[in-house]
Amino acid sequence: MTTQIEQAAALLRAGELVAFPTETVYGLGADASNPHAVAKIFAAKGRPADHPLIVHLPGDDHLERWARDIPDAAYELAEAFWPGPLTLILKRQPGVIDAVTGGQDTVGLRVPGHPLALELLRSFDGGVAAPSANRFGRISPTTAQHVRDDLGAAVAMVLDGGACTVGIESTIVDLSSDNSRILRPGMVSAVDLGRVLGLMPTIGVAGDGEGVPRVSGSLESHYAPRTPLVLLPPDAVIFAVRAAMANNERLAVLAPMACPLSDDRIAWRQAAAEPRAFAHELYAALRYLDGLNCVRIVVQRPPQSDAWQAVNDRLRRAAASP
Ligand code: TXA
Ligand code: MG
Repeated sequence: MTTQIEQAAALLRAGELVAFPTETVYGLGADASNPHAVAKIFAAKGRPADHPLIVHLPGDDHLERWARDIPDAAYELAEAFWPGPLTLILKRQPGVIDAVTGGQDTVGLRVPGHPLALELLRSFDGGVAAPSANRFGRISPTTAQHVRDDLGAAVAMVLDGGACTVGIESTIVDLSSDNSRILRPGMVSAVDLGRVLGLMPTIGVAGDGEGVPRVSGSLESHYAPRTPLVLLPPDAVIFAVRAAMANNERLAVLAPMACPLSDDRIAWRQAAAEPRAFAHELYAALRYLDGLNCVRIVVQRPPQSDAWQAVNDRLRRAAASP
């Protein structure tokens, strides 16, 4: 009897799209060495074709097949954080196809820390190119149902691995030049990276100049719900609630305190007070609140510390108007 994993690996070999769970968000996977398969990702997502994709690997023993001139720092970070929510940008091997790298001389690589993803990658025994399995510019999916809602018919198979534990996308570190830079913050923080590297990587401002790699997650309005979202300090949250009631408007709120009142017009979702739990729930909460037809989503601004950096990054992007 063929298992679901074997079926999924066979679909990948046949050039089809398979959505699969990772510890961060669900990925929309295709055989990274097949240009026709990779083209299907861009079509399904409605994503601009020059945006590079992350190649998911079954283990760090596959690194040399995809990257060249690999610095020691890459092996140290792989050892410390893989399988896990960290993507390394390295110089690519010449054979890596342009559709995956966006025509750049670098490639993004990661070994995901989810048992189903690892089983799939081991069974496929190659690189799987996978962006987050959402339509371009929308909120990343953290359950199989989110993927079906967004992409439904466009995928040959959705592997269901439950809710993603981390809940926001991997940290991206660029090691392709002499100074390491964080291109996208994630739950592996700058401090975590600095502990291994012996030096804090700089926070790179991606996409703002010559020679800077393109990161689609760096577009300001990425990860945005359709309902306008505002970030407010605690006092202002209560003020916004009172104002909405006075104007007879429906308001959605995501804040760490319990809802202080009972009113049909206020949809209150209590947020976790701790960054990992907050990240885990964030996208599901935004999807839920976005579906309630409110005039606005108010999110109470979290603390500005290192541990909250990745969450604050996603909230800031969600709040940027498209
Ligand atoms: O957690 C994650 O990273 C998830 C799961 C599925 O692994 N994937 C994900 O993929 O977030 P995506 O495509 O939504 O975001 C990947 C980011 C993009 O912003 C892309 O531009 C950047 O990685 N990227 C990929 N290759 C790159 C490269 N060679 N240079 C610079 N940025 C790169
Ligand atoms: Mg994405």
